[in-house]
Amino acid sequence: MSHAPTPLFEKHILVCTNERAEDSPKGSCARCGGHEIRIKLAELLKQHGLKGRMRASKTGCLDACELGAVVVIYPQDLWYVGVTPDDVEEIFQTSILGNGIVERLAANDESWQKLKALRNRERQS
Ligand code: FES
Repeated sequence: MSHAPTPLFEKHILVCTNERAEDSPKGSCARCGGHEIRIKLAELLKQHGLKGRMRASKTGCLDACELGAVVVIYPQDLWYVGVTPDDVEEIFQTSILGNGIVERLAANDESWQKLKALRNRERQS
């Protein structure tokens, strides 16, 4: 007998907090405010009484480092790149309380093409 999967959280926000050396060509989300972003999100969830229903977890590298800081929201499978701590309130209002998208930060095909181009450049240098 199979069971339909049931997520533990209504929304799960993954915030990359991976850290690399300052001179790393890839950069790292910890150096782009990853920790501050996660703490702000966790505080907002608490303030809005959503603790236990939604969660902001820190993660290791999500493999989009050059575009950091990276935040992913499930179940929307919504990837935000280039996020700064100043963007957290807008993301929270739009995509956590609501189901909208902050277009200027949402990753799209263009973002991933840019990532590939940056990686190719790193390989050649
Ligand atoms: S360091 Fe954040 S995605 Fe790799």
